[in-house]
Amino acid sequence: MVDYRVEDQFAILEINNPPVNALSLHVREGLLNGVLRASADNNVKAIILIGKGKTFPSGADIKEFSRPGKAPWLPEVGHTIESSNKPVFSALHGTALGGGLEIALFSHYRIAEKTAKVGFPEVHLGLLPGAEGTIRLPRLTGLVIAMEMITSGRQVSAKEALKFGIVDKVVEGNLLKETKAFAKSVLGQPLEPRKLSLCGVKDADQVDKYYEAALKELLKKYRGVIAPVSCLKSIRGSAQLPYKEAAELERTLFSELMSGAQSAALRYSFFAERAASRWNLPNGASSANSKPLTIKSAAVIGAGTMGSGIAICLIRSGIPVILVEQNEKMLENALRNIGYILQGSVKLGRMTVDQRSDCLRILQGAASIEKLKDVDIVIEAVYENLKLKQEIFEKLDKICKPTALLCSNTSTLDIDLIASVTSKPDRVAGTHFFAPAYIMKLLENIYGSKTSPITVATIMDLGKKIGKISVLSKTCDGFIANRMNKIGTEAAFLVEEGALPHDIDQVLEDFGMPMGVFKVSDLSGIDIGWSIRQEMAKKQGITLTLETHYVSGERYSSLADRLYNLGRLGLKTGKGWYRYNNASNSRKPIIDPDVTDMILNHCEKLRIKRRQISPQEIIERCLYATVNEGFKILEEGVAEKPEDIDIVWQYGFSFPRYRGGPMFYASQVGLKKVYERICYYHESFPYSKHWLPSDLLKKLVSHPNEVPINLWMNYTNSKL
Ligand code: 3HC
Repeated sequence: MVDYRVEDQFAILEINNPPVNALSLHVREGLLNGVLRASADNNVKAIILIGKGKTFPSGADIKEFSRPGKAPWLPEVGHTIESSNKPVFSALHGTALGGGLEIALFSHYRIAEKTAKVGFPEVHLGLLPGAEGTIRLPRLTGLVIAMEMITSGRQVSAKEALKFGIVDKVVEGNLLKETKAFAKSVLGQPLEPRKLSLCGVKDADQVDKYYEAALKELLKKYRGVIAPVSCLKSIRGSAQLPYKEAAELERTLFSELMSGAQSAALRYSFFAERAASRWNLPNGASSANSKPLTIKSAAVIGAGTMGSGIAICLIRSGIPVILVEQNEKMLENALRNIGYILQGSVKLGRMTVDQRSDCLRILQGAASIEKLKDVDIVIEAVYENLKLKQEIFEKLDKICKPTALLCSNTSTLDIDLIASVTSKPDRVAGTHFFAPAYIMKLLENIYGSKTSPITVATIMDLGKKIGKISVLSKTCDGFIANRMNKIGTEAAFLVEEGALPHDIDQVLEDFGMPMGVFKVSDLSGIDIGWSIRQEMAKKQGITLTLETHYVSGERYSSLADRLYNLGRLGLKTGKGWYRYNNASNSRKPIIDPDVTDMILNHCEKLRIKRRQISPQEIIERCLYATVNEGFKILEEGVAEKPEDIDIVWQYGFSFPRYRGGPMFYASQVGLKKVYERICYYHESFPYSKHWLPSDLLKKLVSHPNEVPINLWMNYTNSKL
């Protein structure tokens, strides 16, 4: 794990632990032993720590965090490095992160290759740099930069690191050779001034001022998240306490975070995100044995908000797009809007003017699909109507080349029904983007019963190429995301029973959702849900009225229909579940007594006796109903693993990452407890099918060892 060799009187300790040279036990042992050996070797004048392969260590081994650990610990290794009688040089390339950077900060000198990046990403794992990183970095950079870097987890370039004083030199070419050359230039100089444990923090007298300012920012930016504040406290300690005491404080804060629920969820999320990119189909095909096709050109059908957003994702990644729209005016507007949106990206510094021009150069509009005979993939993004989509796919089947993939951006419709009108159903799949498509990171890919492994591999790979987190779902009504989301349904029932929209929104926001469900509904438009409900009613041959309370034996709330009838369509009309001050162009929701009156009238008409609803009930009703559906989704194989579901929620619905996702959250509450509450609500609300307890959940609770699927607790045990 650490190769030791002596060259030109340098002991080279080459860390070899692919893929990221994480500081696992054997690496720590190798470093410790290597430094002791080199220190005792009279033929060695200096020691160089360097990473083999693509990077210097990118951190501690996160997998070890969930197992009982073993010494030597990182600080011990670090102090051995610092107290060596020979100068130690860390040669950084790739990503020197977390514990990797800490090792470098224990070294006497740091040389960085030009493209290297350094940083402390621990905060993203709900942790702080726990091997004295919070004590050492401020000694090099001063407090303000250390506070910013550690609380944000930002990686900085070698150039910036040089400016901040983190590295001593940035080099190009052969890193080892350049490090030796630098080392030769400083050999013989005293080591004491290079030992950070002996240095002070230069702006320590300003610590209270900087701490207060940073804290204010953090509390605003990371509401409910613990780690950034702990990072800040530890950095404050670095300035206020003697070195040893500061290190003790850091260790205490680190242990608190490590044993807490937020870090567990964030560490899980790190691995879940990577696990979601791996997939297996029931026929044995998998990401490991299926090769994607290369997509060199694409077409998007429909130039509405979704179609335009998808086109942006593709052209931003260098894939030429033909945007098809029959309505000439609409096409013109869409092309213009895409230009504006990219202009916005330029203004925000996310792309250059030239990059924008390159994007627009590979975008062309077309009025008909006849032009699509050569493209590698078509993504249809017309409105959600099966008949219309089938008509389009029938035409595409005739026009496109036989190898082209035909995908639908449907959010609910059965892929098999869409594929059934084509002669090549193996080439048909769903690519469900989330609005706004050019911002939201999630791509929910859907396979039908005939979709080929190559098609699946290609759309999963395409997602990655265009910067999305791709998750795979089997086709069903609503797929993973929309099928599972029961928050809106339960929230409406809770309002009928006694809560008010802003009560529910407040509880959900306190839980960590960025926006309550009623605010989201106002933002996306009350008419959207209304159209979906009308379509559903049409399909079932029923008419919905404002008094409808049951549909096909299922409880139904017509509250949102009442809003629609009043023309309260949400933010766009200035009124919805809330009121908005359109005159001042404010998007701030204001509680509206008219809505409260409407709700009370509705309840009176339906003779619903209102009662006090507790925040606990709001959370349980909204989330446990969702979790129950999640287990049904697993049971049916719609999602392959709970990680996929949780990643869908994090990236599709902004579920707080520090809670891991609804499935992980349920595991933290305790599945038994969740199951019992689901049974209770099933008894209380027999007319809501979503409370019918999942068989898989029941089985998990009663016979946890017999469940044959790789649930996240197994994943956690085996992989973390
Ligand atoms: N420990 C264990 N495994 C790690 C790891 C780590 N620190 N970092 C990455 N991996 C694994 C990933 O899980 C993945 O495994 P898989 O192939 O089985 O899915 C594999 O290495 C490759 O990782 P990526 O797919 O993320 O590779 P990229 O090239 O896209 O990114 C990276 C590389 C930027 C290093 C990214 O992996 C990363 O950000 N890693 C986490 C870095 C981090 O958080 N470091 C701090 C750790 S905590 C710490 O150091 C505590 C200390 O202060 C005491």
